[in-house]
Amino acid sequence: MTEVVGPIHVSLAGRGDLTTRIYRELKESILDGRLRPGERLPPTRELAQRLEVARNTAAAAYERLTAEGFLVARVGSGTFVAATAQKRRARALAGGDIRPRPIWAAMQPMRTQEPGAYDFRVGLPDWRLFPLETWRRLVNSELRAAVLRSADYRDPAGHPALRAAIARYVGIARSVRSSTEDVLVTHGAQQGLDLIARLLIEPGAVVAVEEPGYPPARQLFQSHGASLAAVAVDGEGIDVQAIPRAAKLVYVTPSHQFPTGTPMSLARRTALLEWAQRRGAVIIEDDYDSEFRFSDRPLEPLQSLDRAGRVIYVGSFSKTMLPMLRVGFVIAPVSLQPALHAAKQLADWRGDLVTQGALARFIDDGLLSRHIRKATRVYAARHELITATLREDFSSFLEVVPSAAGLHLCAMLRPGASYEPVPWIETLAQYCAGPVQNGLVIGYGAIQLDQITPGLRRLARSFTL
Ligand SMILES: Cc1ncc(COP(=O)(O)O)c(C=O)c1O
Repeated sequence: MTEVVGPIHVSLAGRGDLTTRIYRELKESILDGRLRPGERLPPTRELAQRLEVARNTAAAAYERLTAEGFLVARVGSGTFVAATAQKRRARALAGGDIRPRPIWAAMQPMRTQEPGAYDFRVGLPDWRLFPLETWRRLVNSELRAAVLRSADYRDPAGHPALRAAIARYVGIARSVRSSTEDVLVTHGAQQGLDLIARLLIEPGAVVAVEEPGYPPARQLFQSHGASLAAVAVDGEGIDVQAIPRAAKLVYVTPSHQFPTGTPMSLARRTALLEWAQRRGAVIIEDDYDSEFRFSDRPLEPLQSLDRAGRVIYVGSFSKTMLPMLRVGFVIAPVSLQPALHAAKQLADWRGDLVTQGALARFIDDGLLSRHIRKATRVYAARHELITATLREDFSSFLEVVPSAAGLHLCAMLRPGASYEPVPWIETLAQYCAGPVQNGLVIGYGAIQLDQITPGLRRLARSFTL
């Protein structure tokens, strides 16, 4: 099958999945000069239509070429061949014939999205709120000789002061039950998930994940050989009855489901814990952004409701502080701790002691609680403005999913409404493993309050009935 796309041919013949074939064809065209620097590529929708493939398939090929520097995306005007693209041939290493294990053929590097016309990116806290001066002071004081002297290969579980601070902090703020020894400091929640996966996932094991859900966790489990079972989430959380019998591990985000924002009801929490106990299964509870809470008291985490030691609690400072600090933690039942510590040691030993020490002081001095209180007021105002505007002005097109925490919210496209995506707002489709659900996921961690109304006004032009 060969198809003309503008001035070039994109052949879908050959090996590999459709994305790989489109990627390979376009890359060849760039390298041999058929596509020249500065030239604009057809929009993914158009290319996909012509080739009769899903739009995501074409988009993934563009993303890969963008990540590799062959293409550049300019918000609002399209995707272009990068000015430096052809030089890459000269610069590139010899191709080589080293291939990763087959599982890696399906792994796409994750996109780091550039801010668009309006910064509604999902999952980012506002860096402007970060207490930079205080942080600088704390980091400075960690860089004393006395501290550096002890910075050798020590306990892989992390800085003792930070482990203690986290145990106290999550005990008070989230009623998570733990002591210092139970806390393992990780390089972000993602490393916590990776270590757990190393310990618990046999190749081919069925792992249940939420649908829609968090792609980095899904891909991570797959990279460890898991077979994923995407289980629908409704207004109460994951449908426990739909978890397949074969699953011995389930990954959930009960405080603020990612990406819908719905909290898991108490009835569902109880049912999930009973399920785990009955089946001898394990629950990973990812509590990534619930510190920012705008109303009603949070429900107790699964970890503190659990009486049978079936829950592994994973937390992150990526939202309360900044993603670049790469600090997260795992609180696991005692039975898993020795292996978890061994896995951490094999992975990277102990992470960055300076950051960990500074964060321990930040928590112990009450600065984290103060920072969260302040940031919560800022995020609450953004959440309220977006929710109210969507309910008032978008009610024919969108139904807002109720949420009371976190840094993003979700709105479902109403039946009969259609939406022409704008590149600066994420769609729910990218979080779906199965049939696409139509909706938007709107982040408000980065956007300033005064940009919300103009941004949503622009967005309104993208809907028709
Ligand atoms: C569901 C979920 N878990 C965890 C994280 C945080 O990951 P990390 O601590 O690795 O930055 C995020 C960030 O967006 C998330 O959305």
